[in-house]
Amino acid sequence: MDARDLLRLTRTVATARGLRSLRTALRRRRADAAGLPKRGPERARVPGAARGAEPEPGGGVVRFARSSLRVRVAAGGAVFCGWDGALPEPSYALAGPVPEADERAVLEPDKDGGWRVVSERVLVVVGRHGTVEVRTPGGVLLRRDLPPRWWEAEGREAQEGSGARWTQRSQVPADARFFGLGGRAAGPRLRNGAYRLWNTDPGGTFEPGDDPLYITMPVQLVVADAGTHLSFCDNSHDGRVTLQEGEEGAGSGHDRPGRCELRMEGGPLRSWVVVGTPARVLHGWAALTGAAALPPSWALGYQHARWGFGSEREVRRVVAGYRERGLPLSAVHLDIDHHRGHRVFTVDQERFPDLPGMAAGFREEGVRLVSIVDPAVKAEPGFPVYDSGARAGVFVTDARGREVRGEVWPGASVYPDFTDPAVRSWWGGWYAERLAQGFAGVWHDMNEPVSFTAFGDPTLPLSARHALEGRGGDHREAHNVYGLAMARAGYEGLCALRPRERPFLFSRSGWAGMQRYGGTWSGDVATGWPGLRASLALVLGLGLCGVPYSGPDVGGFTGSPSPELFLRWFQLGAYLPLFRTHAANFAGRREPWEFGPEVLAHAGAVLRERERLLPYFVTLAHLARRTGAPYVRPVWWRSPEDRALRDCEDAFLLGDSLLVAPVLERGTDRRAVRLPRGRWYDTVTGEAYEGPGQVLLDAPLSRIPVLARAGSVLPVAGADGRVELEVWAPAPGRTGGGVLIPDAGDGWEPAEAERFTTRLRDGEVVVEREGSPDVGHRVRVRGAGR
Ligand code: GLC
Repeated sequence: MDARDLLRLTRTVATARGLRSLRTALRRRRADAAGLPKRGPERARVPGAARGAEPEPGGGVVRFARSSLRVRVAAGGAVFCGWDGALPEPSYALAGPVPEADERAVLEPDKDGGWRVVSERVLVVVGRHGTVEVRTPGGVLLRRDLPPRWWEAEGREAQEGSGARWTQRSQVPADARFFGLGGRAAGPRLRNGAYRLWNTDPGGTFEPGDDPLYITMPVQLVVADAGTHLSFCDNSHDGRVTLQEGEEGAGSGHDRPGRCELRMEGGPLRSWVVVGTPARVLHGWAALTGAAALPPSWALGYQHARWGFGSEREVRRVVAGYRERGLPLSAVHLDIDHHRGHRVFTVDQERFPDLPGMAAGFREEGVRLVSIVDPAVKAEPGFPVYDSGARAGVFVTDARGREVRGEVWPGASVYPDFTDPAVRSWWGGWYAERLAQGFAGVWHDMNEPVSFTAFGDPTLPLSARHALEGRGGDHREAHNVYGLAMARAGYEGLCALRPRERPFLFSRSGWAGMQRYGGTWSGDVATGWPGLRASLALVLGLGLCGVPYSGPDVGGFTGSPSPELFLRWFQLGAYLPLFRTHAANFAGRREPWEFGPEVLAHAGAVLRERERLLPYFVTLAHLARRTGAPYVRPVWWRSPEDRALRDCEDAFLLGDSLLVAPVLERGTDRRAVRLPRGRWYDTVTGEAYEGPGQVLLDAPLSRIPVLARAGSVLPVAGADGRVELEVWAPAPGRTGGGVLIPDAGDGWEPAEAERFTTRLRDGEVVVEREGSPDVGHRVRVRGAGR
């Protein structure tokens, strides 16, 4: 027990919940003492020397004295490496069948007794002692994985795929920058340090220093002059990544490479590496792990949530507050307090007597109702969800087959085992109750999964048993995929129950591949300027891990933001996919009118701008699904070779057309903005700036700098609600373009992309639509004559 545990303990045991969480912690400790294998003396193993190799489609297997390595280049260019016989499957991350091998990739002997796999997109060089280098086809080094080292119980033969712990060190070019690893508050550029791979509720709130958080992923995106690559270790066990950026011209003029050490507590040593431009890498990653779910278009509008809506009357009052002030509102979210005693899939009929009626009324004015859904089920005989689950044996058990009890909002609770397909379909069926109450979408929470414990890890015992799709295993392997599997259950349930509408689902916890089922949000980000910065870091980092739809609790989860902080958060949120205010029941209000007339006026302008940009957001949602490119991209997205951009963390690209420079510091009225190459227009003043370089732009309280790329075609909503094209003049001698993908509805109707090109002819801006003589939309040209 450390000092933090002690503090938590003394704070919590004073209450009834505290006492129960003390009991939960003790129970957890006892269960693991009895149910986990003891760690005895261990022996280290390395692969040893290469002895030979056998070709296979896409590559082959290299045999070492004490291990083997399978290298397979897939048709799309992704490289699979599996040690000790590890195969790509089973996997929670992969979307479908393992991609076909690239038949043209060949295994050849290399110098010094090593081997190499040569393919069109990538070159893989396996050294004689098990070093694996991923190089560009031209031979430039992107990543070098040093020979791994395993620790296994002594006395046991070195079995292939045994539960050994292992470590792998890697090197990347000296100029490389690391990104990803899931949602990290201190990102997006991951500084030197250790990052744990264990989904964790930080408990109450978090700040940029807190790590890990709710979504961790063994996914690294590495950007260097030599190229960009993504490395994914397909292993859901607890682990730790230690990063150290390199240094050029370090000791005696030599470069010191960037280093990464991955330490895993168990599970297979297997990885995927995808190389290319950032866009190609994310495309390849989406091809492996699945296309992002397309949110219904209303989920791209502004949403309001709160923990602590006391009653239906209060919810109606808030919605009326927006209506009366003419502020657009797309959805309102109900938190756990609308449940009966925090029981999932129930409604407190006294305080919320007519949810379906309220939902229908809201719907008429274009406001949807979204419901929180927590996985923990109150362990209470007589409660139908518990009874039905207990009868069907759906809850996670301990090593002796007894239900594992945790402590969550409803008190003593049990946890559905979402790693069991039958449990997923049982759970998905309960969403019928939510739909009957009029909810249009769901918000999954507490699915790390959380159990309040007075000390130790606030989750289930590591020895808890899980089905793991029939393979069987324990919480050490299932923990990190629990939220992902719950998302699958919810998504598939909603698809089955309401097949004509796309589900709206976002989940606090998850893992690689979670984008198939929905998005996520920041979780309980602390109210304060550091929290505002963390909000952007999380969205950018998750996007680079393939999860494009997310956003923060605008205003922060705790306390009361100053009017200035609230407004700056609102201005940032407006350019992120999930734009939602939310706060804890112990925090101040978040309605924009609570912060005085000046903030209200500016927030109103922000909301109207978001409405205007909706066709652009819908287009970006479709593009994220089709191409894997997140809506929100780091400024280096199209110019990863620009080193100054790699280190720029306070601005981002929204799609291809816009560069957004939020204000992240108090008392700002101007800020420096680093521009990628090309011409950029300040969208308010119309002033043109030439990148690359840095400019100083006005950022009065009323707005944050937003720039448009010269030549871009931005689909926006005109005053009459029809889509029109805002066209930014190309720079002389240049061309440009853009795309519009209008939603054909909230169902599955295929949406057709309209592509536009722009150029200058005799100084006039010309817009053309591909394959059509007619542009088909009203065009508004801006920036011309500059
Ligand atoms: C968790 C969630 C938060 C929610 C609260 C109550 O802290 O992260 O968003 O309001 O639980 O359900």
